[in-house]
Formats: sequence, structure tokens, C-alpha cells
Amino acid sequence: MDSGLDSPAGRPQRGHRAPPCAMVIFGASGDLTKRLLMPALYNLVRARRIPDHFAVIGIDRSEWSEENFRAHLAEGVRSFVSDTAAGAITEAFDADTWDFLAQRMTHIDGDATNPELYVSLAQELKSAEAEYGTAGNVIFYLAVASSLFGTIVERLAEAGLTEEKDGAWRRIIIEKPFGTDLPSARALDARILKVVSESQIYRMDHFLGKETVQNIMVLRFANGIFEPLWNRDHIDHVQITVAETVGVERRAAFYEATGALRDMVPNHVFQLLSLTAMEPPNSFAADAVRTEKDKVLEAVLPLAGDDSRRNVVRGQYTAGIVKGQPVRAYRDEDGVAPDSMAETYVAMRLGIDNWRWADVPFYLRTGKSLTRRTTEIAIQFKRVPFALFRDTPVDALTPNVLALQIQPDEGISLQFGAKKPGPEISLGGVRMDFRYRDYFHTEPSTGYETLVYDCMIGDAMLFQRADSVEAGWAVVQPVLDLWQNDRSVPLEFYPAGTAGPDEAEQLLWRGGRKWRPIS
Ligand code: BG6
Repeated sequence: MDSGLDSPAGRPQRGHRAPPCAMVIFGASGDLTKRLLMPALYNLVRARRIPDHFAVIGIDRSEWSEENFRAHLAEGVRSFVSDTAAGAITEAFDADTWDFLAQRMTHIDGDATNPELYVSLAQELKSAEAEYGTAGNVIFYLAVASSLFGTIVERLAEAGLTEEKDGAWRRIIIEKPFGTDLPSARALDARILKVVSESQIYRMDHFLGKETVQNIMVLRFANGIFEPLWNRDHIDHVQITVAETVGVERRAAFYEATGALRDMVPNHVFQLLSLTAMEPPNSFAADAVRTEKDKVLEAVLPLAGDDSRRNVVRGQYTAGIVKGQPVRAYRDEDGVAPDSMAETYVAMRLGIDNWRWADVPFYLRTGKSLTRRTTEIAIQFKRVPFALFRDTPVDALTPNVLALQIQPDEGISLQFGAKKPGPEISLGGVRMDFRYRDYFHTEPSTGYETLVYDCMIGDAMLFQRADSVEAGWAVVQPVLDLWQNDRSVPLEFYPAGTAGPDEAEQLLWRGGRKWRPIS
């Protein structure tokens, strides 16, 4: 079953320990570092991917002692390890693994906007090089508010810390959101690329760290049976759903200014879209893949003028029940304005203007406080011409749907029609299911392991290039403009715990189609 090939053509050699390096984390006391980054480093140490010559330097304004800093992060790893939801029930906290990291960890208390911090950081990096042999290689991980991205990169460059010399590399991982719209993303790119080169920038979209997202390319390009059908001749339409049961949680300040469209669509949802719709790349070299993904976004038909009104639905949840628990209306959540217009749901119909996809609608939707958590790409194929089944009503024939289940319950299913047993020709819909967990043993993972390791080995395939980030914003910009400038665009309400607003159904009804059920 296992081909044993873990470095497809064009990708750097994998499966070894990463080269010596130091990792500098801005925002070291933040939630992301504790919940995701540290557990990912811990898992990488366990998987023997982290080099012995390694150091972690955490930066924040927490005034913590070294000891408190380590204890805080250890707590994050412990709770990851004991989190049964992460599938880690069989694991126990491994003190040796943690000690490996803890021994190589230091903390700087400082303000990221203050140039003096970078003097201390330079000294700390020198010490790490002398003490741990990190060879001058450094990853700067920006796990901070997006308003600080530009300033930190400029300060690093001013202090000479981004300069690559004597064979050593300097790389910067930037978390999302990268900009809040097209002009701000462009401005941020321009600011950053003035002082460092594109090859040093690793723009993060954590969806690309998910195994099943990466598997979209494997499914399409490592199997001969799908690609001949993967086009407008055979595909009726595509549905991409990213449904969440969580609401705004404790992120009201961020969410009020962001909303579902900015938070999820130009990044996560478009990753799924571009991997589904891209042309086969020439190789798995980072730029070969990223160029093909970028071309998809550039071919999306503009949602100009009335198209944004007709083809996009925004919604907001009202009170309801999610997973048996009562949920307050979005407008009643702490920190949310009582007349907030922030959308917690968005659905849209897009077209891709190229030879492969002309006239094939792509329906996308994402929302919070919905009935079930599911991320899925469903490819619905065209129906047969019915000649043989004239007595069966058109919509009683089961459409062929290939559904890629990204999370949870990762897997792939194919739906088709079969003859029901009996003397008559009567048809019934059946489904063939493949579940990851039935075939592969998967280690508990945060999804950040691959991305951090890839940055260490210099493989940028799973990171976003400037052009793709900007192309994603360019697609949604007309919608953002319309919503900002025209208060008459309705915000549709849906009770928490449902599949979203009824108006989203109309996007598909108009074309004689319907959404797949979320529940
Ligand atoms: C984040 C968004 O980028 O992705 C969140 O800011 C969202 O609002 C999250 O909940 C979803 O990611 P995942 O991995 O939980 O599906």
C-alpha cells in the first residue's frame, strides 16, 4: 500500500531531521503558541525531526521569569497530550521530549515595536549559535496581532537580522490574517518585500497543514481515474462547505472587525477551491504548485456590480441550540454591538473562467454556530441522459457525488445509483466510503507540524505566495465594498444550530440544485 516515496518530484528531501536552527517566536505567551505551536514542536521532537542543534527564543511583554515561561508552555503541551478530542488518548506526556525543548528555550521580555528589543535579540541569537550550534539559521515566527507584522519585519531588517550570509538562512513565518482587504494586503506585501525577499516569507494558512487538504492533490494527481472526469464535460457543480459549531468564542473584538468573509474565505476556503480546481503542476516544486493555484484565483469571474448582490448571501446567528446546548444570539455575545452587522455566515456562487471550468458553478459556504462541524468538498457529476430509466423521475436518480471529507472523520466517499433487489428495475442511492482511520495510523497532531518542519527545510509549497494572497483578496473585494457602501444589502438571520439562512438555499435553487445537508 505504501509506495515509500515521501519526496515527490521537485520537493526537498523529507523525513530527516531539519538543519540546525533557532526559532524566534513573537507572541510567545499567546494562545497560538501555547495551544498549537509548542505542541507541534513537541511532536516534531518526538518524531525526530528537530535537530539537536536547536533553540527557541520566545518574545512577548509578559515579564515572566524563564521558569514561568517554560511552565506556561508545558501546560499547553500537557493539555494537548491529554486532549482526547485530538485523538491522543494513547499518549502520555513525555518528560524527556519536553526537557529537550525546555533546555533550549529562552525568553525575552520586550515590546516588538521598540528597536532596543532587536539589539537584545541579536545577542540572544549569537548566544544560541555559540551554545547550541544553530549555525546562524533562524525562523522568525510572527504569532502576533496582524497590525504588528510590517513593523516587526522592518525592525528585524533594520537590525540586520534578516540578512542571509555565509550560507545561513533567515525565514519569517507570518500568520493570518494577511491584510484586511486587497489594498491593505498589497500595502503589507510592499512594505515587507522592500526589506526582505519573497523567498524568505512563509505566509501561513493552517488549512494547508491538514493531511486531508494535502491529500486533494494526491487524490487528483496520483490516480489515473479521476483526472479525465475532472472538468466541465463531466462535472455539474462543486460545493465547498466549512461549517463550524463554535460561535464567536472570546474573539469578539477580532470578529466584529473581521466577519466570516474575511476570516475564512480568501484564505481557507480558497485554498480548498484552488486545490480542487488547479491544473496539474509540472512538479511538486513550491513555485510550480503555487503558480497553478494562483491561476485558479485569477480566473475567478469578478463579482462586480450586481453579481455580488445576486451571488453572495451573508448571515448572522440568532439564539438557538448547538449540540444540545443553548447558544446566545451573536448580537448578545460579550463584546458584540447590539446592532452588529458582522456576518457569521457567508455563502457564494463563483465561476472560474477557463477551459476546464467554464459554466461550472462553485458554491462555497462557511459559518459559525451551525448544526455540525464539517469541512467538505463535494464534486457533483452530471446526470446520465435518462434514456434507459424513463419511468424514474429525474431527481429520483442518485447523482454521482465524490465527497472529500476534510474534517472531522477524514475520508472520501462516492455516491452512485444501484439496482434495488427485486423483479423491477428500481434504483436506490448507495455510498462507498473510505475512512482514513481504517487504513492509516495517524499520530496526534496540531496540523502545524508539517508547516513548521517545511519552513525549516525550506519547502514553501504549503505556504502562500504574495500573488495568491492578493488574488484571494481581489475576488472578495467587490463584496466587501458593496457591504460597506450599501446598507440595503440584507443580513439574513439564522438560528444557531441550523444549516444557515434559507436565502443561501436560493443560490442553488436558481440553478435547480440544492446544498448537501450539513447534519
Ligand atoms: C481560523 C479562523 O483561521 O480558522 C477561525 O480565524 C476558525 O475563526 C478556524 O474557527 C477554523 O480552523 P479549524 O482548523 O478549527 O477548522
